[in-house]
Amino acid sequence: MRIYGKAEVSGNLIAVALAGRIGVRVIYGEYVEGELSGGEAKALWHLWDLGGVRRRSAGGVFEFATAYGDSALYSIKGFSGVLKGVFRARGFSGVEEGGGGAFAVKHEGGRFWMWSDKPLRISAGPGGALAELEVDGGARVAFAGDLDGLRAAMRGEAAMEAERRAWASRLLEKASDLGDPTLRYCWYVLLTNRCSLRGHPALRAPFTMPSKYVFRHQWLWDSSFHAIVLSRYDPRLAAEELENLFSNQAPDGRIPHEIFMSREACKSFWGVDGYTPWTTQPPVLAVAVDAVLSKAWDEGFAKRALSALVKYDEWFRAARDKDGDWLYSYLDPYETGWDDSPRWDEAVEGYRAGRRRCGYERCSMAPVEAVDLNSLIYLQRRIAARLAERLGDRETAEEYNEMAEKTAEAIRGLMWDEEDGFFYDVYEDAHEKIRVKTPAAFVALFAGVATAEQAEALVGHIFSPREFWTAFPIPSVSADERVYDPAGYWRGRSWINLIWFAYKGLRKYGYYAEASRLFARALEVFAKAPCRENYNSATGEPMGAPDFGWSALIIDMALEERGLPCL
Ligand code: GLC
Repeated sequence: MRIYGKAEVSGNLIAVALAGRIGVRVIYGEYVEGELSGGEAKALWHLWDLGGVRRRSAGGVFEFATAYGDSALYSIKGFSGVLKGVFRARGFSGVEEGGGGAFAVKHEGGRFWMWSDKPLRISAGPGGALAELEVDGGARVAFAGDLDGLRAAMRGEAAMEAERRAWASRLLEKASDLGDPTLRYCWYVLLTNRCSLRGHPALRAPFTMPSKYVFRHQWLWDSSFHAIVLSRYDPRLAAEELENLFSNQAPDGRIPHEIFMSREACKSFWGVDGYTPWTTQPPVLAVAVDAVLSKAWDEGFAKRALSALVKYDEWFRAARDKDGDWLYSYLDPYETGWDDSPRWDEAVEGYRAGRRRCGYERCSMAPVEAVDLNSLIYLQRRIAARLAERLGDRETAEEYNEMAEKTAEAIRGLMWDEEDGFFYDVYEDAHEKIRVKTPAAFVALFAGVATAEQAEALVGHIFSPREFWTAFPIPSVSADERVYDPAGYWRGRSWINLIWFAYKGLRKYGYYAEASRLFARALEVFAKAPCRENYNSATGEPMGAPDFGWSALIIDMALEERGLPCL
């Protein structure tokens, strides 16, 4: 598959993007990011080939980049001039010479190595390194996470290319892509966003970054979605994706929102000196556990998962239900996963202006009992009950089934609006509805808490061109809302996970033809620029981060459409 204008290679932890001019942007996990550039030659064409990039530029300059594992090699042919760059590093503590022309940028997680066969000068600058490279007709520049990687890259592009090609084809051998290049590309994205860190105190098991260019640590709901797709590739890999989430569970049972690679990054985003903030994220984890175990039963994993899910549920009960109504609250817009959604506009503004109260130890908005959060908690309980049953723990099974029902009743009782035929979030204090129509309501279908009549009404909304049946369907805000912005992040763009919830929800209630119709429309637009973070819902224009992991949920839907084993 050829993708013009895309300049990208990938390895486990290194991502290299060819800059628009002669130059290269290198990203080493969350620790180092920098660009070496200088020549003005413009690219004439790019050829992207599963992790290798060739580019011909005006003036006969030819560039090539390849990455494998933890190292990347960048070659320039037919160019003379000086390339300059700045490499910023988190926890930067200087540059170091490693002998043989190799240099290291010292950062919080260790060292990031660079080497070139042309004169390379590196010096310490503010928060990182300044590099200068004199190119005389051509140069090779290697980047790696350690000296071994650097040595491997120095063996030259032919050796590295051969390894990369063998690796990429091995990687994709087991991936069921139905012969569709769009699905193949999504598999490639998901599998190569995976990374492992040696000796990291929090990220002990390998995990998948949502996007190696933009989002480079582990997130709770992203990893849950990744595991759901990975369970169709190798259930062991999918189970492994969830390990850090279990091992970083807080003593009180909360499963953290994010697990950062770098303490410094966590501090700068959250003001917390550690690897995880104080928040959680939408509890899709139980669904991921279920996806893994339904593909391959593993008793040890099942026991660990059940114990984590039970503790997590206890935490929701103890820490997020002040009014004891079996509905749980979000306290921060980022933990909702829907960062800037208009669902939280008044909760945030009202709290800041002192109009709305918090009532908890810590809040960034007034507590909101969200329809998706509570539907997922309902489902989490049903899954926990099934797991407990299978593991021979009748009592827990019964307890969790009963609690699930209480939450379902509360959702139907307090969040459903008969007149609009829609589910809304409510404030925790007075249960006043937050009247912004969003696809969070369709998570009630996904989880199975809606009645058949409620489901029928929701299906009407999905296929209404005034509301959710847009060019790229299921915008994150209904198109007839005053605040709808088709290009606004969670304010109207379309996201694949929201389509996935709706798709599964439709099927759960027997709307198979409708689900196929939704999938077909989404795939048609998606295939023009696959696996981006999100899409303009009015035009289908790709937006947000490239190579975005959970967009690979399109694979899960495609396989389900073909009647292949599903969740
Ligand atoms: C953004 C999204 C959030 C996601 C994260 C990582 O913050 O809003 O839902 O988990 O990126 O992809």
